[in-house]
Amino acid sequence: MKAIKILSACLLLLPFVSCTQKANDKGDAVTEKKIETLLSKMTLEEKLGQMNQVSSYGNIEDMSGLIRKGEVGSVLNEVDPVRINALQRVAMEESRLGIPLLMARDVVHGFKTIFPIPLGQAASFDPQVVEDGARVAAIEASSVGIRWTFAPMIDVARDPRWGRIAEGCGEDTYLTSVMGAAMIKGFQGDSLSNPTSIAACPKHFVGYGAAEGGRDYNSTYIPERRLRNVYLPPFEAAAKAGAATFMTSFNDNDGIPSTGNKFILKDVLRGEWGFDGMVVTDWASASEMISHGFAADPKEAAMKAVNAGVDMEMVSYTFVKELPALIKEGKVKEATINEAVRSILRVKYRLGLFDNSYVGEKKAEILYAPAHLAAAKQAAIESAILLKNDNEVLPLQSSVKTVAVVGPMANAPYEQLGTWAFDGEKSQSVTPLNAIKDLVGDKVQVIYEPGLTYSRDKNKEGVVKAAASAARADVILAFVGEEAILSGEAHSLADLNLQGAQTELIRALAKTGKPVVMIVMAGRPLTIGEEAEFSSAVLYAFHPGTMGGPALADLLWGKSVPSGKTPVTFPKMVGQVPIYYAHNNTGRPATRNEVLLDDIAVEAGQTSLGCTSFYLDAGFDPLYPFGYGLSYTTFKYSNVKLSSASLKKEDILTVTFDLENTGKYEGTEVAQLYVQDKVGSVTRPVKELKRFARVTLKPGEKKNVSFELPISELAFWNIDRMKTVELGDFALWVAPDSQTGEEMFFKVTD
Ligand code: NOJ
Repeated sequence: MKAIKILSACLLLLPFVSCTQKANDKGDAVTEKKIETLLSKMTLEEKLGQMNQVSSYGNIEDMSGLIRKGEVGSVLNEVDPVRINALQRVAMEESRLGIPLLMARDVVHGFKTIFPIPLGQAASFDPQVVEDGARVAAIEASSVGIRWTFAPMIDVARDPRWGRIAEGCGEDTYLTSVMGAAMIKGFQGDSLSNPTSIAACPKHFVGYGAAEGGRDYNSTYIPERRLRNVYLPPFEAAAKAGAATFMTSFNDNDGIPSTGNKFILKDVLRGEWGFDGMVVTDWASASEMISHGFAADPKEAAMKAVNAGVDMEMVSYTFVKELPALIKEGKVKEATINEAVRSILRVKYRLGLFDNSYVGEKKAEILYAPAHLAAAKQAAIESAILLKNDNEVLPLQSSVKTVAVVGPMANAPYEQLGTWAFDGEKSQSVTPLNAIKDLVGDKVQVIYEPGLTYSRDKNKEGVVKAAASAARADVILAFVGEEAILSGEAHSLADLNLQGAQTELIRALAKTGKPVVMIVMAGRPLTIGEEAEFSSAVLYAFHPGTMGGPALADLLWGKSVPSGKTPVTFPKMVGQVPIYYAHNNTGRPATRNEVLLDDIAVEAGQTSLGCTSFYLDAGFDPLYPFGYGLSYTTFKYSNVKLSSASLKKEDILTVTFDLENTGKYEGTEVAQLYVQDKVGSVTRPVKELKRFARVTLKPGEKKNVSFELPISELAFWNIDRMKTVELGDFALWVAPDSQTGEEMFFKVTD
């Protein structure tokens, strides 16, 4: 339905664009022939030019020289359609071979209409809403001439200190795989050659999310088995979904920077997965191999990157400068260059750039189209997670006549857009404050006293003033969190508590005795245990984007019902990190009955604490587990049945269950299926998400739901370094989150 609305907007507002898309982009013989014909005409300099991506700079004439000589294959960060056309004209009409430029931009969670940050979108557990968001982003970005986005970011991330956790889909391999593929589908549409399609670029290949200590750009140490079981599957799913390009990552894994890692780029990506698109470096990550100490100079950096399987270099110019000599010396083969250029040209042909090189220059009406704003609002509604709701304080009832709107995020149009919202405009954001006023009109009095002007504000005077005003309200809505700049690239944090005087603000508000509803807008899970204690209800909205305000207002007043679930484990305190549900068991798993710090007797004996795997000061469990989220209504799971208790490797297991809405509101539950391989040739995670479904039910309604799970999806990289389903016993849970549900069993036999 939503998809249809977006499509019809596209038909209405872009009549010159055909929205019927061709089904198949795969390299056909005609395209391959065109590539060979063109390649045979190219000089070495022109070939190397295709492998060179530059960032837009200066005026058109400044950039034209290189383009005219055929020394640029792609330009990033140019979003003015007039300039894009001017640059394209130089490439098409003034360069010898007229090869079009590929115009690129980080369109990560929207172009102009900004959607919730990807971590928020992942909380929706709704691939359709994610696909719709990417489609809107593609329609808007392509309307100014962008045909390549550096997204989706599908780095599995299990450390919220890492600022880039905001850009991905959280800690889970399966959820990230599904959401990444949905984004690719949205960006690329049914055919890349449709002018509203943009090429996707899954990034960062690979392992970047495991940066040691959550410090950005840091080294990773991921053994091959973990790489294959946890970090590679989302990229394999992306390749299968037809992603046109891939980007290497900044990190070195076990000493090898990704940009120089032949094993991942050639053996796995091209060899095992049959990828025939193009691989680009991350920003200067070829020359950064010098800082890593993996290359002595730009020449060695270029050699290692190209020989490892990189096709295009982002901004560091080592390819154009160093490859001629490397080829002469035989250190890089011309055949390798030809392969790289083929991959680049293939993407350009698939995008239809040779035939459809220019874009309309009139300000496109499609930007911020009503259907786009509606899709962004829906995504923000589905991204919000209700973490607590004591005494059913939410949704707010008509008996609430006065609300206090407090906190630095209540009216922060820029901050609600989140990280990587380059082209989003704060002037278009609808803030919670404005949306609430709009929604309640004169039925509810709104007292606005922010208390703090930004999330790091430490001014206690404002806190006192806000608490005094808030005391006059029936309910206090406290919008806290972190500014957009505190997450994203190079924005790691060692402390995950609320910044500035926000904790004092929540404490002071709680002291009024009025119910406090805390709404958190942030780029990552924050350690909000204390503030949650002080609050009657907690709604976690991440950075919700342009339409965050209306989405939250609807949720607070019950026009919509929360359905989001945590896409990542929320730690109690930062010392528990990394913390994730799909861990392996130790030989001494926690019992959850352990003696904690305050219960330990003075001079207690060495072994009196139980000798299990937990923290004396934090226990074992997180603040909120993966997959967790409440609703205004309640759901009952029952009657879980397996199609068989004994299956063969080639079988499909069908799991059916009844789901009933036992509360007062219509609501949507994200039902989850987890599996554990009880005994393996190597230790296996205690649980792994294998399926999920959003099920909408009216009060009292009951539905029979079914999951189909091919047993082949239980395969993992085993002790013999083979992806295999091992025979034996499995446990299974159908559950509302990763920590509950009744354990059931089945066997896989010969
Ligand atoms: C560096 C970031 O790591 C990457 O994600 C981004 O796509 C490029 N810069 C281009 O902006």
